[in-house]
Amino acid sequence: MLYTNLNINEKGHLTLGGLDTVELAKEYGTPLYVMDKDRVRENCRAYRTAMQKYFGKDCLPFYASKALCFTDMCRLAAEEEIGLDVVSSGELYTAKRAGFPMERVGFHGNNKTDADIAFGISLGVGHFVADAAEEIEVIEREAAKAGIQQKVLLRVTPGIDPHTHAKIATGMVDSKFGAAIETGAAMELTKQILGCPHIDFEGFHCHVGSQIFEASPFISAVDIMLDFISQVMAETGYIAKILNLGGGFGVRYTEDDPKMNLEKFIHMVADHLDTKRKEYCLPRLTIYMEPGRSIVADAGITLYTVGTVKKIPGYKNYVSVDGGMADNPRFALYEAKYTVLNAERANADCDLICTVAGRCCESGDLIGENISLAEPKRGEILAVLTTGAYNFSMASGYNRLCRPALVWVEGGKSRVAVRRESFDDLLEKDL
Ligand code: LLP
Repeated sequence: MLYTNLNINEKGHLTLGGLDTVELAKEYGTPLYVMDKDRVRENCRAYRTAMQKYFGKDCLPFYASKALCFTDMCRLAAEEEIGLDVVSSGELYTAKRAGFPMERVGFHGNNKTDADIAFGISLGVGHFVADAAEEIEVIEREAAKAGIQQKVLLRVTPGIDPHTHAKIATGMVDSKFGAAIETGAAMELTKQILGCPHIDFEGFHCHVGSQIFEASPFISAVDIMLDFISQVMAETGYIAKILNLGGGFGVRYTEDDPKMNLEKFIHMVADHLDTKRKEYCLPRLTIYMEPGRSIVADAGITLYTVGTVKKIPGYKNYVSVDGGMADNPRFALYEAKYTVLNAERANADCDLICTVAGRCCESGDLIGENISLAEPKRGEILAVLTTGAYNFSMASGYNRLCRPALVWVEGGKSRVAVRRESFDDLLEKDL
């Protein structure tokens, strides 16, 4: 099995966190997101423990809530004593409602509106990650109005190609995110912030991309960022206190993806950082990271019911399920690959190569191609693995499909964390 929280029981059914997925599908209906809460906790702890061990006690992962955001997920992050990265007032509001401590929230985004900034300040967010000159002006103005000193990090684009899908590479110079070092923009914004009396400038942020399996882009980011921090020190006298290295740690969607060792990776980056810091004669930095996918992806699966099985001789076989791009747009967007199983006969030989298709009126609405399955029949349950990140959070209401429920599995029990959308929910906003 792809992950240790998945297994097969005596009936041949797939289990997640010890619970029979076919039973879960019966109890809660499909499509259904199922999340192993214990696994999410383990992932949070793995980051917090390794970061504090290798970077220092004051270092913290800020969970990138764009990967999966709902009230109880924010509560979990609060209980695990990690930070939270939000990119919108909606994510921030969810965190607030969950009782998440605002001082551990970082407010990100490449285009925060005036209203976002005012809302963040009114709720007392710990820090903003500023992305552009206009934002710095608004943060200064709103902080002055509130009579506070607002903590800010500056997002810098280090100019690194992280060898990942082009749509999720964000650290290159030609990017809508952050200020490039190469063009001088990062230095300019640094000086702008230093001139703002109501901003407490804490340091810098960078994020090279997502679904990265190699350490080299992170090592390069450390080199480039420390070089920049020392240039800033030489040119302005300002000494950064915090360096946020962003997120991006890869997860296994299929057996072809490599297995990653988080502790080894953090150890390596920490050693490198320490060596470089000494070379540059810089004081110790507090390190933040922003994992999203690697906190939640492997904790989640999606369950679907099979509808039609269509064989087109000489062409393809299509297995259509009762969900698709509306609950998982990642194939449509990135041709993302997933592992799909017949959850009812998880041990059986895979005797059908097929395209698993969704139910939207759109030919690109696929879950995956060239999938080997134990040939399913109408009514059987399929499981798509590793859907904990960027599925629920990227779901749409296309074709007026109701968004699926999300169920937590914890300690051998299950419960609904987000209920299924109803027809009334669909109409509620229509006036
Ligand atoms: N920090 C920043 C500034 C980010 O932009 C992101 C992701 C993260 C942290 C978290 O990265 P992670 O650890 O999850 O890789 N929808 C795409 C992924 C977009 C990622 C955007 N930024 C997908 O489904 O693959």
